[in-house]
Amino acid sequence: MATSDPRPNGSAAGVQLPALLEVNGLTAGYRGRVVIHEVDLHVMPGEVVGVFGSNGAGKTTTLKAILGLLPRMGGTVVYEANRWRSGRPWRAAGQGMAFIPAERFTFAGLSVEENLRLGATSVAGESSAETLDSVLTMFPILQQRREQKAGTMSGGEQRMLSLAVALMSQPRLLMLDEPSLGLAPRVVEQLITTLQGLVEKQGVSVIMVEQNVNQAVRITDRAYILRSGRVIQQMSGEEARSREEWWDLF
Ligand SMILES: Nc1ncnc2c1ncn2[C@@H]1O[C@H](COP(=O)(O)OP(=O)(O)OP(=O)(O)O)[C@@H](O)[C@H]1O
Ligand SMILES: [Mg+2]
Repeated sequence: MATSDPRPNGSAAGVQLPALLEVNGLTAGYRGRVVIHEVDLHVMPGEVVGVFGSNGAGKTTTLKAILGLLPRMGGTVVYEANRWRSGRPWRAAGQGMAFIPAERFTFAGLSVEENLRLGATSVAGESSAETLDSVLTMFPILQQRREQKAGTMSGGEQRMLSLAVALMSQPRLLMLDEPSLGLAPRVVEQLITTLQGLVEKQGVSVIMVEQNVNQAVRITDRAYILRSGRVIQQMSGEEARSREEWWDLF
């Protein structure tokens, strides 16, 4: 996880370190109704950033607006030093951004392996075979169930599969929408440990949206608290881990 200066373009020991993702003044919503208001956030390379808030706070809307799945009403998104425009969501995977929605996101009628192979369509052939091996090593359950139809896997297994499919595109930024949703505490713990390994071994950066913060804070470097579509507070991972209660912020 990142040990660098947490500010975007901050200079640690005089070296300019640009943010991987920098969001400024992002405003978005649905059919003219503003849901998120002037959201500022950034993710440094190798950082795990939490976006925490209660139901309806605007967490999913924020992720979708960053990706350009929703028309933006204001603000800018800069990804890997380039302006990221809305309206071209299909470019995201090819550019190293992987969005893992809260709902199940696999092709139910296809096998685990077929789902994984589809996840690699933006990656060259040889490298995708290697990625398949490494992803299957990371998720032994998927290795065992290679031939099983995704739709017959349990909720937790399908969530693992969604994450594994996203990893097949060799992302540099993982955007996870409530990875804990509907999963047993033990499965959430496993998922967070898997993510921790990914960040440490592969230097992937993560934005993790969560309502259930207890497990997420284990790997969070920094967190933003979203309430009624606004960032009301930013805190360090240590501060988030040391909080016993969240009701006053949610
Ligand atoms: N497709 C949509 N059309 C209209 N309004 C929407 C749509 N999706 C979300 N909203 C509204 O936008 C607000 C924020 O929703 P959002 O899904 O971003 O919240 P969230 O923080 O992800 O909540 P949850 O934890 O329940 O997933 C809510 O008031 C919601 O009703
Ligand atoms: Mg949501």
